[in-house]
Amino acid sequence: MSKYWSDIVGELQPYKPGEQATSDGVIKLNTNENAYPPSPTVEEAIKFFSSGSLRLYPDPMSLRLRTAIADLENLGIDNVFVGNGSDEVLAHTFRAFFKNDVPVVFPDVTYSFYPTYCKLFNLSYGEIPLDDDFQFRPELIPARNGGIIFPNPNAPTGIYLDYSEVELIASKHADSVVVIDEAYGEFGTRSSADLVKKYPNVVVTRSFSKSYSLAGARLGYALANKDLIEGLYRIKDSFNSYPVDRLAEVCALAALRDRTYLNSVIKKIKESRETLTNGLRNLGFRVLNSEANFVFVSHEKIMAESLSVALRERDILVRYFSKPTRIGNFLRITVGTEQQVQKLLASMTEILR
Ligand SMILES: Cc1ncc(COP(=O)(O)O)c(C=O)c1O
Repeated sequence: MSKYWSDIVGELQPYKPGEQATSDGVIKLNTNENAYPPSPTVEEAIKFFSSGSLRLYPDPMSLRLRTAIADLENLGIDNVFVGNGSDEVLAHTFRAFFKNDVPVVFPDVTYSFYPTYCKLFNLSYGEIPLDDDFQFRPELIPARNGGIIFPNPNAPTGIYLDYSEVELIASKHADSVVVIDEAYGEFGTRSSADLVKKYPNVVVTRSFSKSYSLAGARLGYALANKDLIEGLYRIKDSFNSYPVDRLAEVCALAALRDRTYLNSVIKKIKESRETLTNGLRNLGFRVLNSEANFVFVSHEKIMAESLSVALRERDILVRYFSKPTRIGNFLRITVGTEQQVQKLLASMTEILR
C-alpha cells in the first residue's frame, strides 16, 4: 500500500497468471499453452520479417489481419476487432458494453479474470451457480442484468455448452450484450461465431494463444455486429492506438494461412485429451468431459494440493487453484504431447501408489 496510489488500486484483486518455468526439462501443463510449436509458415514469416520496419508504428486498425480473419469467419472487416491477446479484447468488451447499474453475470466457476475486470471497471456482478455436474444452467440468468459473459468451452472445467443453448441465451436476453469467450473454441464441437450475423447483441472472442500456438505473440479478436465493433474501437483508441505490433501481425497472418497444420495439431491434442482422460479415470480420478485443451480433475483419496506438489517434485507443473470453494480439490491439467501425457500418467501412478 502506498500513499501515492489512487483509491481504486488498493481495492483491486489482480489476476494471478500461472507460473512460467525457469529451467529446461520442466513439463509445463499449467497455463493451457499449446504443446506444439506454431506452423512452420510462422518461422518462415519471421525469417523474412524486416527488422527495419520496426522503426514505424504498426497499422492502428490492423487492416490486413482483420481482412484475413473476416475472410476466414465469412464476415465483413467491420465485424472484426483485434487486440493484444483476447484478455485485452475482453477488458475492452467489459468497458464498452457492460452496465454499472445492474450486475453483470457469469458462471460461479469460470475464468477468474471476469471478476477482476468488474473490480477494475467498477461493475457489480452476480454468479450463476453451475449444477453438481458443473453444467451451466442458462435458465438461471436473471432477466435484468448488466451483461452476460461465459467461456465456451468453460474454463477451468472444459465443459461445452450446446450451440442451441447459446443461441437461446442470445435471443432471450436481446437487451443485454452476450459475450461468448471462445479462447478454446477450436477444440470444441461448434463455434458460435455465426450468431453475430443474426443477433446484434452477440460478441464472440477468440484467441491465437491456444490452437494457433501463439501465446507469446499476444493476439486475440472479437466478432460482432459493426456497431459493437465500432464501440470496441472507441475504447481501444482511448487507451492504446497500437495494441497489435508488426511482428505479431505477420505471425498471425502466417498461422491463419496454414489450415492443414492447425487441423493436424487440433486432432493430435484431441487424441491426447482422450488418452489423458481415460488414463486418469483408470487411476480413479473424476475427470470432467472436456472440449478444451485441458482437463479438470479430482481424486477422492489424495488432495489436489498434495498432488500438485508431488508432480512439481517430478518436474511437472499443473494448475491448482487454492480456493476454499467446490473447486478447491481440483487440478487443471493442460493436454500435452502424447509423450508428456504418458509421463504425467506414469507420475500419477507412482504418486498414488
Ligand atoms: C477462458 C479464457 N479466456 C481468455 C483467455 C486469454 O487468452 P489470451 O489473452 O492469451 O488470448 C484465457 C487464457 O488462458 C482463458 O482461459
